[in-house]
Amino acid sequence: MNSDRHQDSTEITELILKAAENARAEIGVVTKQPTTGKAAKWPIDCNIGPGLEGAIACESKVGYVNGTDGLLSYRGYDIFELCAYSTYEEVSFLLLHGHLPNSTELKEFEQKLVNYRHMNKTLRLLMSFPVEEMNAMAALRMGTIFMRQEFTDIDREQAKPDLSDAISADEDSIGMETKPSGEQRAIYEFKKKKKRRKKKDSDLDDASGLEACYHLIAGVPTITAAITRLRHGLMPFEPSNELSHAANLFYMMNGRRPTAIEERVLDVALILHADHGMNASTFASMVVASTMSDIYFSVGSGIAALNGPLHGGANERVLHTLREVGSPDNAEAWVKKSLAEKKKVPGFGHRVYKTYDPRARILGPLAKFRCLGCKADIQNLISTAEQLEQEVVGSLAQEKKIFPNVDYYSGVVYTRLGIDPSMFTPLFAVSRVAGWTARVLEYMHNNRIFRPRALYTGKFNQVFKQVDER
Ligand SMILES: CC(C)(COP(=O)(O)OP(=O)(O)OC[C@H]1O[C@@H](n2cnc3c(N)ncnc32)[C@H](O)[C@@H]1OP(=O)(O)O)[C@@H](O)C(=O)NCCC(=O)NCCS
Repeated sequence: MNSDRHQDSTEITELILKAAENARAEIGVVTKQPTTGKAAKWPIDCNIGPGLEGAIACESKVGYVNGTDGLLSYRGYDIFELCAYSTYEEVSFLLLHGHLPNSTELKEFEQKLVNYRHMNKTLRLLMSFPVEEMNAMAALRMGTIFMRQEFTDIDREQAKPDLSDAISADEDSIGMETKPSGEQRAIYEFKKKKKRRKKKDSDLDDASGLEACYHLIAGVPTITAAITRLRHGLMPFEPSNELSHAANLFYMMNGRRPTAIEERVLDVALILHADHGMNASTFASMVVASTMSDIYFSVGSGIAALNGPLHGGANERVLHTLREVGSPDNAEAWVKKSLAEKKKVPGFGHRVYKTYDPRARILGPLAKFRCLGCKADIQNLISTAEQLEQEVVGSLAQEKKIFPNVDYYSGVVYTRLGIDPSMFTPLFAVSRVAGWTARVLEYMHNNRIFRPRALYTGKFNQVFKQVDER
């Protein structure tokens, strides 16, 4: 693995290994062995709750989550090991291909990412919209549609009518709807079909293929960084061809190269967010793909689902909450009031984890890393987070199994990297695009359109009345 890249950030490796040790000490013997390795016999009997809780929608080899013991692995590799020794590039290759890349594969993959990061036309299109006034996730979603437009021929081929008949027909113009004013009959002249564009070497025209996945993994960070800059009235930066995925993202967002520690911290955060079972945004991506739409639309719907405050949008809310709490001294009263009002505290609780989220076990120490040298407001943010955690866990862990989740400390980590809260959720998407694409690709090998049922609880035999009788 990438020991070279980690040589200047060995303290981070030690921090992760320590977190792994603590987790092992707390978890002890794993209570339940996973039922993996066997193909299921369909149909499967399972208890299903509202929100599809407990439903099994497909088989997957991409990643494993054990919510009882707090375990997470990608393709069989424990998350702590991947964070300690690997890189986001290796991990996204692993998720997509099922094995860690050898050095040739890694070089080729990294080169593809370098090439695909440059998206001038996509950025030009993006800049023609008032991005600074838009929700960052809305802008990101739009950006993925521009990527689709820039790099594929699908729209050009599919959206055009076949004009050959029209040209050879007697009429060379057709009547269109009457305009409110002006010409009674608008004239629409057909033009000759243009020659099909020559395919590029990368063959990105297959908008559901592996190349399109690489394209999205490389391109979503470029768009995210461009949005960051545009929101501050600044021009986007050209990607650097020398930097790693994480370093380049940092550079394009902040306008300076990261230190080795900053690069590593962002890299670890990217690894931690890359995949997580059948969460809402992954499922949304897969539902779209299952209709035989394409991977760009899939990723766009993943971004839309991730935006919600119950999902990826929680990380931004955590930071606002910490600012609202203000100081460690206020945490107890704040939690009491919030729980009395039956409010959910952002960054706590999980549909699957009923124990400490393993990702939070790493992000917590990362957020606190070398904090003594930080500015006073960051120190205050960290101690407020620690105190709030104690209060929430103290009140809810035993009875409701509520612990910090991945979003609790990620915002503090990003704040320390100089990233604005409005970009926290787009950053989540930057990483999760690897998981979305890997799971979509896997599912498409054996695609069946998703189509659950609803239990109808409405009325029957209603008698229709005209509008003036209602
Ligand atoms: C993640 C989440 C949506 C999971 O939802 P879920 O599996 O449907 O769980 P529920 O909302 O049914 O919660 C179960 C119980 O725990 C409580 N609970 C769950 N999360 C809570 C939180 N963050 N703060 C306080 N109480 C919480 C609920 O109020 C509920 O209590 P009740 O049984 O007395 O009604 C939920 O925990 C939540 O909204 N968390 C905050 C948002 C967040 O951090 N999201 C990111 C997830 S990675």
